[in-house]
Amino acid sequence: MLNQVADIISNCTVGAALTGAGISAESGVPTFRGQQGLWKKFRPEQLATMEAFLASPDVVWEWYNWRRELISDVSPNPGHYALKEMEDFFSKFTLITQNVDNLHRVVGSSRVLELHGNIYHNKCVDCGLALAEDLEIDPSAIPVCGKCGGQVRPDVVWFGEMLPGDVMEFAFADAEKAEVFITVGTSALVQPAASLPLVAKRAGATLIEINPERTPLSDIADFSFRAKSGELLPQLVTVLRERQKGAGGK
Ligand code: OAD
Ligand code: ZN
Repeated sequence: MLNQVADIISNCTVGAALTGAGISAESGVPTFRGQQGLWKKFRPEQLATMEAFLASPDVVWEWYNWRRELISDVSPNPGHYALKEMEDFFSKFTLITQNVDNLHRVVGSSRVLELHGNIYHNKCVDCGLALAEDLEIDPSAIPVCGKCGGQVRPDVVWFGEMLPGDVMEFAFADAEKAEVFITVGTSALVQPAASLPLVAKRAGATLIEINPERTPLSDIADFSFRAKSGELLPQLVTVLRERQKGAGGK
């Protein structure tokens, strides 16, 4: 199956990937669903909604400070590096992620579209102004926006909120143009991200899924690998590199 996928990639020029929490699982970032998932231990409506922030901004900030700390202690894994390397096999490769953990940027992926924001970014809860990234947030004395006095909040997408419009437009446009679309480590349950693989497939892309568990995409995908992304993606890159060498470069 890996050889077939490598064949297809070798004959394509436009690619895209959609990643979810699973790509960072091997780095030690907990996923949201599943046995060990964050949403088993925490209630999203009490931590990741505007209502929660307005009712208890201190509780919400404690949770985000905890996640910031956890994420700043981890490193990218071979799956992140392999997706960066994937750029070498396409003339255009877009990395669309639902993750807020910044790890695709850490490895230097060039075109990263963060659908759900970035956990290190801050903005004003009232006027939306982007605020400094290096703010230390004391949950009992939350800094305020210099322009309107609104409290600082993390610049991530909460439940019930719209995704950043420009990012979403680029993501859908690139999904439509992709000849190969790889979904990695996502349960494919959260919209609108979960529609991207379908949009790509409908527009003619070969859909490849990498996930140790089955998802709603598994039956739709042209190739569905039951594997960990930190293992399978580097294997795929190795096969592609060997072909590149054999062919004297693509
Ligand atoms: P989920 O937690 O829903 O799903 C993680 C997926 O990763 C599951 O399908 C696992 O089987 C898979 N997985 C686990 N380990 C893996 C590994 N080593 N390699 C590959 N896959 C692995 O996470 P998402 O699909 O990203 O939204 O969740 C989507 C959104 O729901 C998140 O962005 C977040 C959450 O609520 C917001 O916060 C807005
Ligand atoms: Zn403001």
